[in-house]
Amino acid sequence: MNDTPLDRKRFVERYARFFGRERVAAIERLGYLMVEASGEGPYITDTEGRRFLDLWGVGGVHGLGHRHPVLVAAMTEALRTEDFGSLFHFSEAKARLAETLARTTPGRLEVTWPAVTGSEAIDQACKLARGATGRSQILHGDHGYHGVTGFALSMMGSPSMRAWAEPLIPDFQAVPYGDASALASAISERTAAVVLEPVRTDYDGRAPDPGYFAEVRRLCDAHGAKLVVDEVVTGMGRLGHLWGIDHWGVEPDLLVTAKGFSGGLYPMAAVVMRPEVLAFWGDDPYRIISSYAWSNVGAVVSRTAVEETERILPHACAMGDRLGRVVEELAGRHPALVRGVRRTGLLWALDFRDEMAGAFFVLGLFQRGVIVVASAQNLAVPKLYPPLILEDEQIAEFAEKAEDTLRALAG
Ligand SMILES: Cc1ncc(COP(=O)(O)O)c(C=O)c1O
Repeated sequence: MNDTPLDRKRFVERYARFFGRERVAAIERLGYLMVEASGEGPYITDTEGRRFLDLWGVGGVHGLGHRHPVLVAAMTEALRTEDFGSLFHFSEAKARLAETLARTTPGRLEVTWPAVTGSEAIDQACKLARGATGRSQILHGDHGYHGVTGFALSMMGSPSMRAWAEPLIPDFQAVPYGDASALASAISERTAAVVLEPVRTDYDGRAPDPGYFAEVRRLCDAHGAKLVVDEVVTGMGRLGHLWGIDHWGVEPDLLVTAKGFSGGLYPMAAVVMRPEVLAFWGDDPYRIISSYAWSNVGAVVSRTAVEETERILPHACAMGDRLGRVVEELAGRHPALVRGVRRTGLLWALDFRDEMAGAFFVLGLFQRGVIVVASAQNLAVPKLYPPLILEDEQIAEFAEKAEDTLRALAG
């Protein structure tokens, strides 16, 4: 160990080359370089003692804040006896997590397929839909983000994130998000799955009209296609319900969770599906294997995270309403910069009049010690994913620093 703290200067001198010098330099030029030291509740502290209010939490990975004491205690306790276990066998930790998912997800979703990352789980969901239907076409919302592995990347809305890796997997087709008649024209007896986020998070933070998901469900049923909802961001309480799709009262065939499902401590993801989806496997039980899919330690953390999210949701919704008022007031005071605010539950998207203003809002807040995030596909729409443990103190801190940032931008 070295006694001098690893400040940004030393990090760049000594370690930047291990992460790609040019890449680190680009992050430095943006003013976004930070060397994390610790996390506690809604805050991150860096190695130079700067404290950041984390209203992004890696898109909800830290949805319960950093190092939530109940989760840390559960993981510490699990480590006394548990390890990864084996992908070929079961355990009580895994069984109880799968049961918790079946209890909390909508309707007939009951069977879980374990995974490590959101991207991997999305890939599995697409493959399972293809296997279950014997069809290949996957329809997905345009300007989506579902991850960076093969199937997930084939649905990537951002050209710069996908073009360099092409050609990708065939028979994926984007349909305009939120437009049921466009979907009705595209869907057919060739369609294996329709993959959608409950809110389109990486582009405009848009939630579809109230009747949209019911109509998507109807179209999938009429054509024998599977409805896959990507709850990687919108699950685990983000939309004010445990699962985002509960907002519309629709039951998908497959639901994918990750990010907040990890409790911010252990990489965990899952596909939860109707039992009939897996029926095509017959008596061949190992058609997907993934060595790290569901560690026993992680299963304890994730079950605790789901239960803690259920417990704290009423508090989170109440604080969300208060934050909502603050965000609306801010936007109302700066109409020359901000066109409007989109909110679904605990997810906010600020609609700036131009991309530069949106990007500078994110960077300006960062310099003032608040982390929010820009949509990769649309810099004009920064987003807020506050932790569910939010309190008035953090709302006041955000209000003050956001006002300061907006004034500086207006100037
Ligand atoms: C909506 C959505 N789906 C899937 C993913 C992929 O998850 P992961 O980064 O864990 O692979 C992400 C990641 O940001 C996401 O936002």
